[in-house]
Amino acid sequence: MSTEISNANNADQTQANPNATLKSEPTVMVVFGGTGDLAERKLAPAFFNLFIDGMLPSNFEFIGLGRSEYSDEKYRKHLEDGVNQFSRRKPEKGQWESFSPCISYFRSDISDIKSFNELHDKLNALDTKWGVRANRIFYLSVSPRFIEPVTKNLSVAGLTSDPGHDRIIIEKPFGHDLESAKELNALLAKNFKESQIYRIDHYLGKETVQNILAMRFANTLFEPLWNRNYIDCIKITVSEQVGVENRGDYYDGAGAFRDMIQNHLLQLLCMIAMEPPISFDADEIRSKKVDVLRAIRPFTPEEVRKQVIRAQYGPGLVNGKEVKGYRQEDKVNPSSTTETYAAIKLFVDNWRWQDVPFYLQTGKQLKDKESMITVQYHPVPHLPFPKEVAENMHANQLLIHIQPEMDIVYKFQAKVPGLKMLISPVQMVFDYEAQGTGQPPEAYETLLLDVMLGDATLFMRVDQVEAAWAAVMPILNTWKRDHTTELLTYPAGSTIEDVAKILIQHSDNNLKELVAFEDNREAQMRV
Ligand code: BG6
Repeated sequence: MSTEISNANNADQTQANPNATLKSEPTVMVVFGGTGDLAERKLAPAFFNLFIDGMLPSNFEFIGLGRSEYSDEKYRKHLEDGVNQFSRRKPEKGQWESFSPCISYFRSDISDIKSFNELHDKLNALDTKWGVRANRIFYLSVSPRFIEPVTKNLSVAGLTSDPGHDRIIIEKPFGHDLESAKELNALLAKNFKESQIYRIDHYLGKETVQNILAMRFANTLFEPLWNRNYIDCIKITVSEQVGVENRGDYYDGAGAFRDMIQNHLLQLLCMIAMEPPISFDADEIRSKKVDVLRAIRPFTPEEVRKQVIRAQYGPGLVNGKEVKGYRQEDKVNPSSTTETYAAIKLFVDNWRWQDVPFYLQTGKQLKDKESMITVQYHPVPHLPFPKEVAENMHANQLLIHIQPEMDIVYKFQAKVPGLKMLISPVQMVFDYEAQGTGQPPEAYETLLLDVMLGDATLFMRVDQVEAAWAAVMPILNTWKRDHTTELLTYPAGSTIEDVAKILIQHSDNNLKELVAFEDNREAQMRV
């Protein structure tokens, strides 16, 4: 059922909401895979929150597609359960009832053109009802093997023939390696213009990740020091508490490197290492990011063996709960050599970053959930203070905590208050929560609103995806050639620092600074 949404809060919120001008044109969001996990966990909560914030157009329809039998009512109930469980804000009295009439279900077979023609009739009927050609956004939340039939049928049915209004969203994985990524891109290019394609990397929608651009390019303070002359090394760490959950079949064919480093961590690297853009134009920003990926120094097989480490979790305790080892997880090969932790040391060959090591590391089933970026500055070139005055000193650090804490911490030295001259590390903190602006939006809220507005800045362009694969292919190829039959294991529940230490002790590599750097960080924190 289509709906003219009546948001009880709309009028007030439009006045109060500084983002109100961001409201998009009338929009239909069509979700292939509408009964799947993503719709329930992420999409329904995101649209519900956009609705509560008054950010949805008054003519908006969410159509879930799937093969199962659902009535509109049953489908709404299914999404309501998702919102109750996963939304950052739970519905207050009457809110779900105001929002949910815009949701409907459309039973379909994605391999049958008949379903697409019927969908076309449904969308045309909405246009007639609203008296306007609405934006049509097709969200492909389907397994990679269905992308071909869906895109082909969308195109044959003429559903995406208006590039000004029709868009598609696709989720990673964007291929399994460079070759398959190119095949996927060629398939998409056959049916859509690049400007119609929105490839989601949800890390780019995170509030703190977007703030990297603001911090770097809206301040005089950081950028002049943001280079090899002042920065010793940069570390990007994503530590996860979750294991593979129910995704063993996908993950066992991917591993930490493909699942996290090739996309999310490389995108964080791009935000940190890119040159200043001339404008905030989507293509300008994306071009500056591609330059970083293209500048990653290619790895020789010998460098792969020395600069990349990986491991797999064994059984252990996470949050006081016993958890299985990776090889005992459902739908995982019991002798799998897929890595669940990986760390890499890479270099970006350009004037700004020549010879500055970037360490990227991520792992699953670890003690802490924490994503952060550490910028380690050089020590001062000359210390005029006597040793006993400055023995506690450490080089400056900038810590960008992405999640769950969201803050930026600048660590520097100051005189300890008192009669004596004594120097000790102190910190300045920008804390999101302390701003009192309430909970920031979830990544999917930001990204879905951007698609509705036709803003592709935070989405992966074709050349970004391919450049990211090209940068990591020497590693994947070396691993394939080396044909590892055993991987080191770490006990589930370890800290990510301990995993790195275990691996560095056991392998012949030159990531030793990763741990030295850690020790320094710990020392500072103890001060
Ligand atoms: C996904 C990966 O892209 O990102 C998952 O496939 C991972 O394996 C998730 O757990 C991490 O996202 P977040 O937002 O929880 O850090």
